[in-house]
Amino acid sequence: MSRDTGRFTVLHVSDLHATESGLLYDAVDGVGRLERVGDYALATGITPEAVVVTGDLIERGNPGAYAAVAAACARLEDRLAAPVLTVLGNHDDAVAARDLPRHADGHVAAHLIDGVRIVRLDSRAGSVDAEQLAWLQRELAEPAERGTIVALHHAPLGSPLPTLRRQGLRNAEALLDVLDGTDVRAILAGHFHHSLAASMRRIPVFVGPSLAYHQVMNAGPDAVAGHDSPMFSLVQLTSDGVSASAIALHSPEPLFTQPITRTAQKVTHVS
Ligand SMILES: [Fe+2]
Repeated sequence: MSRDTGRFTVLHVSDLHATESGLLYDAVDGVGRLERVGDYALATGITPEAVVVTGDLIERGNPGAYAAVAAACARLEDRLAAPVLTVLGNHDDAVAARDLPRHADGHVAAHLIDGVRIVRLDSRAGSVDAEQLAWLQRELAEPAERGTIVALHHAPLGSPLPTLRRQGLRNAEALLDVLDGTDVRAILAGHFHHSLAASMRRIPVFVGPSLAYHQVMNAGPDAVAGHDSPMFSLVQLTSDGVSASAIALHSPEPLFTQPITRTAQKVTHVS
């Protein structure tokens, strides 16, 4: 399965919100942060089989930012020797996004990587249309050797945040009807700008945090607030399970750093 770990590893990145000026809110360089995800993976020895970016590649009204996003995706692909698969979100522009790698012929596709099928869907409209659902049903009729990951922007459930509770996929039931009973092992989504793990029809759903800004939970019942706390996720498939770990891109001051004592029987450390 994996080159080094025996696991199929996906770097799950979401919601870059790149702008033509280079900065969002005069502070956030989404393209630069994608580069830093690559730095992080290389520095820590993570060898992903794929990178999946679940939408909002640009901030709405900034179609000129796709050139930089496309270049950053191509560079990340080279550095990690793994495909960077992107889906579109509600901020994305369907026409301008054709400049992205693998989007020239459309925004919906399936890719087979080391026996795992990764499906890209287009939920820019807040739903997955009937044409995509029919295609997906045909695609999933034949299982992949190691199962399927479905990537789209809108998760098939709402956020626990009251202000975002209606921001899930509008036709979630229709999508889940298609996925039910297939080889789909995980759904990866974005949009909420906070991480979320769920299970729908017994299919794990992982909403990835945002590289642009983190949606905090305590903004009040009638407000949303974004904080500068970029994160991405490490999703891993094993032969009998799946996990997702959120990773902060900004490193706060460490409280401690100490070596781990390894013995033949166990690894010990102080916690
Ligand atoms: Fe977003």
